[in-house]
Amino acid sequence: MAEKISLSVIKADVGGYVGHSSTHPELISTSEEECEKAKKEGLLIDYHVTNCGDDIALIMTHRKGTDSEEIHRFAWETFEKATEVAKKLKQYGAGQDLLTDAFSGNLKGMGPGYAEVEFEERKSEPVLIFLADKTEPGAWNLPLYKMFADPFNTAGLVIDPSMHDGFNFEVLDMMEHKKVTFSCPEEIYDLLIFIGAPSRYAVKFVYRKSDGETAAATSTQRLSLMAGRYVGKDDPVMIVRCQSGLPAVGEALEPFTFPHTVAGFMRGSHHGPLMPVSLKDATPSRFDGPPRVVCLGFQLGEGMLIGPRDMFADVSFNRARSMANMISDYLRRHGPFEPHRLPLEEMEYTTMPQVMEKLKGRFVSE
Ligand code: F6R
Ligand code: MG
Ligand code: MG
Repeated sequence: MAEKISLSVIKADVGGYVGHSSTHPELISTSEEECEKAKKEGLLIDYHVTNCGDDIALIMTHRKGTDSEEIHRFAWETFEKATEVAKKLKQYGAGQDLLTDAFSGNLKGMGPGYAEVEFEERKSEPVLIFLADKTEPGAWNLPLYKMFADPFNTAGLVIDPSMHDGFNFEVLDMMEHKKVTFSCPEEIYDLLIFIGAPSRYAVKFVYRKSDGETAAATSTQRLSLMAGRYVGKDDPVMIVRCQSGLPAVGEALEPFTFPHTVAGFMRGSHHGPLMPVSLKDATPSRFDGPPRVVCLGFQLGEGMLIGPRDMFADVSFNRARSMANMISDYLRRHGPFEPHRLPLEEMEYTTMPQVMEKLKGRFVSE
């Protein structure tokens, strides 16, 4: 049996250029140099470094399995090196996602986000890596539902015998740190009551029911819950394996023709549309947004990352982009009012305690 390949996508914001809008090329080249060394030393099979807005993503293949201490330590140390460069270049919020002083065995709870899968490489292995900026992990819930449970999106659920049994969704309760699995299509109504609340519940994995093969994995870290203070939105990543009994590439991309509303945007405290963009347009600018998603397509070859193709750099996503701009115009005109601004308990910035304190003597019974 072939040795299994692991695909790890690990991301962190270690400094923004300019403000929170993008990443300085030197941070990328520093990360690439570290990855090149790790490849030469045999830790990595291959790598690709990129960014979505102010988040650097290390896309890595290796044989160390998921949750590997060696891989997580390598990513942490790479982000530390990039932070040094960010500090030298006076980048904004340098080191913001490295929440602790030292690495301790696993990235869980330490700030960087990660999505990982381990699998036996198929005869041909097309994978899509999605990276988002200015939003949170639950942003993947709606597209994952469409990809793996909605026959109006994914024709294969109806007409491909190897998909017809459906998929299992593993959902994480990010507040209680508990998980639950739903068997779909039978349990789609139960699934939706949870994942329709994306600030709390996020799809972590999707598995093919017929053989348990991992089809998708997401990063589900919520920085604000970890740090107990504002540290930026979580800007999640996602891996989706495609074709031959999994959604076709076009079925995995199709949900993003609808720029659905997500939480994030300015100060992590507003709703806005998730706009699919090419890599060169992954630069949230207007009102620090609108939230962006990019997609890099790779064919794996013995673990080598052949690619990327810039999947949203396609004219068929133009309408989604212009719709996202129209939705941004509409929502922006609400100014500080909900539903543009998030409900009180979800905002990452608030002045409410200070204002309440100042006004406490003025509240009288009606
Ligand atoms: C959102 C984000 C930005 C900042 C905003 C204010 O996730 O990172 O919208 O919240 O630019 O940043 P500070 O408070 O650092 O001036
Ligand atoms: Mg930032
Ligand atoms: Mg970011």
